[in-house]
Amino acid sequence: MTTPSLLILPGDGIGPEVMAEVRKVIAWFGDHRGLSFDVSEDLVGGAAYDAHGTPLTDETMAKAQDADAVLLGAVGGPKYDDLDFSLKPERGLLRLRKEMDLYANLRPAQCFDALADFSSLKRDVVAGLDIVIVRELTSGIYFGEPRGIITEGNERVGINTQRYTESEIDRVARSAFELARRRGNKVCSMEKANVMESGVLWREVVQKVHDEDYADVELSHMYADAGAMQLCRWPKQFDVIVTDNLFGDMLSDAAAMLTGSLGMLPSASLGAPMSNGRPKALYEPVHGSAPDIAGQGKANPIACILSFAMALRYSFDQGDEATRVETAVETVLANGLRTGDLMGPDGGTPVNTDQMGDAVIEALTASTA
Ligand code: IPM
Ligand code: MG
Repeated sequence: MTTPSLLILPGDGIGPEVMAEVRKVIAWFGDHRGLSFDVSEDLVGGAAYDAHGTPLTDETMAKAQDADAVLLGAVGGPKYDDLDFSLKPERGLLRLRKEMDLYANLRPAQCFDALADFSSLKRDVVAGLDIVIVRELTSGIYFGEPRGIITEGNERVGINTQRYTESEIDRVARSAFELARRRGNKVCSMEKANVMESGVLWREVVQKVHDEDYADVELSHMYADAGAMQLCRWPKQFDVIVTDNLFGDMLSDAAAMLTGSLGMLPSASLGAPMSNGRPKALYEPVHGSAPDIAGQGKANPIACILSFAMALRYSFDQGDEATRVETAVETVLANGLRTGDLMGPDGGTPVNTDQMGDAVIEALTASTA
């Protein structure tokens, strides 16, 4: 068997810092579990713009297409605010998603027991929470045409287009149903069918996929605004939520915060299977580049480490080793180690990025003793 390839794109802000901790975890697997990866590293976002004048070069894009999995840190920063839209760091990430056709974005919102008091919601509302938002990632208003800022009469008009084809809805619905079967067997689909035609079609297609191929999975539909309300009221009613690109962007940030910290949550963006049967895949933390704390060793590397765990599970068939990483993270949290974002009601032991990474490594090593 050839060594699986992993392309690492640390990106901007805290991206490189948190990725340094993931590299320790990757090295640990090589040293202790006989799991080696052919790792290469490249630039994306503002870092790529600074070096090459573009947020993603064609060479990097080609490497991403060839990799067994891509691991990304974060993109963006105030330094790039005034750049033309096509050159912004975010365009690098959007190009990766679009050209790799990563249509199913899995965003788990899981409440770690040690952090149940950190949420802005009451403990009993969030304790034990374990839901996944499946966000459509390659279409909708993020990519729809026409788009732009035009002039009409004596004023300008900003235009974006929400657009979904039946096949785009069909394939992401299947991803959600498949995932639900491996979990709580429940899917709630969210759109605005009361206001938007794209929502009417979304609801119809999800229902049809369900009735034809996934009738064993419990399906409900909710308007996305009501869904946001229900997520805050009683999130444990959900198992898998499937929704479009824009609603998924917002709902996943809201769901993430329920768990106490955005610094904890990983994500996987999956496309169609490659010739080896594995999906094309990009893994990244849900948090952004956090320019305000970049370079200070304050960032929480856990979301990025857990993103690598998702890669172990979804790209490399190493579900047990993924669980090993997740358990190590739980141990470290239970031991009270806290990066700045996790400093909450229980005090805990303040640690920096590097110490948090080392603690995870220590817990990994202990798990094999
Ligand atoms: C996310 C981010 C991105 C998005 C940005 C950075 C383009 O908010 O992954 O949720 O809007 O999709
Ligand atoms: Mg977002």
